[in-house]
Amino acid sequence: MTETVGQAVERRRQYIGGGTMSINRAINPSRLFVRAQGAYLWDDAGRRYIDYHAGFAPYLFGHADREVDEAVIAAIRSGASLIGAGTMPWEAEIAQMLVEAVPALEQIQLTSTGSEAVSYALRLARAHTGRDTVVVMQGGYNGWADYVSYNLMDPRALVEDHEEGEEYPLRVTTAGIPEAVGSTVRVVEYNDLAAAEKVLATRQIAALILEPVLQNVGIVKPLPGYLEGLRALCDRYGTVLIFDEVKTGFRHALGGYQQIAGVLPDLCTFGKAVANGYPMGVVGGRKEIMALCSDPDPKRRVVIAGTYNGHPVNVAAARASIGRLKSREAEVYGELERLGARLEAGLNGVFASRNYATTLVRQGSAFATYFMDHAPVNWRDIALNNDNERDVAYRRAMIEAGIFHFPVATKQSSISLAHTDDDIDRTIEITADVVRALG
Ligand SMILES: Cc1ncc(COP(=O)(O)O)c(C=O)c1O
Repeated sequence: MTETVGQAVERRRQYIGGGTMSINRAINPSRLFVRAQGAYLWDDAGRRYIDYHAGFAPYLFGHADREVDEAVIAAIRSGASLIGAGTMPWEAEIAQMLVEAVPALEQIQLTSTGSEAVSYALRLARAHTGRDTVVVMQGGYNGWADYVSYNLMDPRALVEDHEEGEEYPLRVTTAGIPEAVGSTVRVVEYNDLAAAEKVLATRQIAALILEPVLQNVGIVKPLPGYLEGLRALCDRYGTVLIFDEVKTGFRHALGGYQQIAGVLPDLCTFGKAVANGYPMGVVGGRKEIMALCSDPDPKRRVVIAGTYNGHPVNVAAARASIGRLKSREAEVYGELERLGARLEAGLNGVFASRNYATTLVRQGSAFATYFMDHAPVNWRDIALNNDNERDVAYRRAMIEAGIFHFPVATKQSSISLAHTDDDIDRTIEITADVVRALG
């Protein structure tokens, strides 16, 4: 007999430090998921859920996608193995595909995760500029590395007094980071160009890193001119502009959000959808910076290393994913937009009759329903205005009703190509029931 969810959680607590493999996975209501396919998840009781969490967003084609999985199986059967010496045919091939797909990529390196890609991007920027300090965004998430583990989402009490145009006092979000690291990090608010300018004008900033759309606190879009403004400031003050496209990349356009925005960063990072759920990260950008990986001067050379970099299984998944996006670009992004618009229209209809405010914000297949009366412009706006209690109650009730949105306030949801019109319509119907019952 399989374990109950309670037993599985207990055994996890016993053998896994902290009781969870990744901080956010310990959810309420607790679930023991045993299978995923396409747009659906199944739990140990055989209940099916329409999934909008999508494993924190990689599944652009849906879970266990046949084309991607067959490419992976073919790679394994062909004897492709991680040799770890010399080169292998698929390395240059995937690199070329990525460079041809994404405007800012002139050269790339592969990693196994988004966090590694971000770590390398920061190292490259520091080597390139000869400066130490990096700027990160309040409300942004760039992985778990030390340099990006500051502030993220300050609680309401800390953002209340924050003034536009100013940086935030530093707040480290995890134990185990040396104090010296904090002396090389500055935190500003997204969509606050004046704050970025004030910090960059010190001419001590190696890199400014941001998700071009803040997608770890829902969908917070750049105000008109913001990304262009950051580009101009970085040029003026000699700072490397890094777009962390781990979530936005391949989901919104083959060329990433940079293609939509028409603003090119110096470096950018990818992960998640690049390999439809297989672990791969990408860091790349201007050749002049990427060339530091083999700079003849050992003082300037940036060491890139990783046993699993360019692993054939992950690369096979990425080749299949990007190949499909390239060959059916208009069809894929057209369909994601169509599904997204259908869901948006339905949910807006459902919430229109309530006596509290909601705002659905969407970029293609990615969306978030905020429990506030406007689309937020940054984290402070969310912290001050979103009704987190109602947000979480709604998400929990949706899970009980068979629709899986991540049960933490403001977390972004993702539609995949595996979702059908029926899934979308069923979601709208269930949402209407849930919302009615919640009152
Ligand atoms: C924008 C962004 N950057 C970086 C990361 C880190 O990627 P990984 O979890 O693969 O290390 C994430 C993960 O959620 C992310 O959303």
